Amino acid sequence: LPDGLALTPPMGFNNWNSTGCAIDEKMIRDTADRIADSGLKEAGYEYVNVDDCWAAEKRDPATGRLTAHPERFPSGIKALADYVHARGLKFGIYTSAGTLTCARTMPGALDHEETDAQTFADWGVDYLKYDNCNNQGRPALERYTKMRDALKRTGRPIVYSLCEWGENKPWEWGADVGHLWRTTGDINDSWSSMLNLFKANAPLAGHAGPGRWNDPDMLEVGNGGMTATEYRSHFGLWSMMAAPLLIGTDLRKASPETFDILGNKDVIAVDQDRLGVQARVLRSAGGHWVLAKPLANGDVAVALFNETGTTATFGTTAKELGLPERTGYVLRDLWQHRDTETAGTVSAAVPAHGTAMFRISADADWWQAPPAADAALLTDA
Ligand code: GLA
Repeated sequence: LPDGLALTPPMGFNNWNSTGCAIDEKMIRDTADRIADSGLKEAGYEYVNVDDCWAAEKRDPATGRLTAHPERFPSGIKALADYVHARGLKFGIYTSAGTLTCARTMPGALDHEETDAQTFADWGVDYLKYDNCNNQGRPALERYTKMRDALKRTGRPIVYSLCEWGENKPWEWGADVGHLWRTTGDINDSWSSMLNLFKANAPLAGHAGPGRWNDPDMLEVGNGGMTATEYRSHFGLWSMMAAPLLIGTDLRKASPETFDILGNKDVIAVDQDRLGVQARVLRSAGGHWVLAKPLANGDVAVALFNETGTTATFGTTAKELGLPERTGYVLRDLWQHRDTETAGTVSAAVPAHGTAMFRISADADWWQAPPAADAALLTDA
């Protein structure tokens, strides 16, 4: 949506991949605390989102409004949103454009769009994930547009995530309806699922941009079903694709290695680059993938992803990446956080299922000339 929200892909947390329906307000509060005190907030994670199963089974008969599930969220959703806001974070919620949500434990918003949007706004909700279950066979565009308009009428800025699973090609119409749209079915915590979603989402690069993102689903990093190498590929490829970075692991139990992957500022900077271009696939022959993502300052991010089961050396060049001709370039390794120089080759021995990531810059000595803004400040002083 061209309304100034989600100018970079949303970053935050959602409980679904780690808890499913077994959610409660304490987990959400603890997660907000953890994001705020672990450095993840500083790294850019902002939204703390509750998924399915947060509401009571029936609407309040007097007002028609949704109410919080009495056992899972006894303090109510407003209090929870306040708690999250008090940590300088934002709060997100979930429902479905159907009669029930996907877990079928609570009502959906179909034909209750105005009431539910207003309830969310009154509670201080900043992000809505709008699912597709139990939709009564009614057209997706109509259902998702109705909620867009209801959210808009509340006057509250709310990031609007279309969870339509790519069924009706939302990349073709989503830019006018929401800020991001799922392009695939649900992820699960396995190499094959991650790989399939990557392959489905990568060809849709042309549709992404500031305020309109392809969403290959939330992160599984840290949940135990993949190796650390595979989780780095997952995180790196999602960042190259300018995907939303929604942590899907229980941060109360996450290992230092998980925090390390999720908190990698060099990789996050690729995802969050303000140019907002999704990486293009330059090559994928033999399962040796080369992806390139142009960045706002003229650098190019490169991912060398080895889908195969054996180490392989492959890469690209500054020339192929369209960089201006220079005698040398600065090459930053985004996992090692180290700069080296290259005459133009970007190559690595990439382990099985691994992803080497670089940022290549034609401007080796950019730091020697003060940027215009600095110069202006000096003149003013
Ligand atoms: C659907 C969505 C998931 C999750 C569940 C909740 O499957 O695609 O992301 O929200 O519903 O029931």
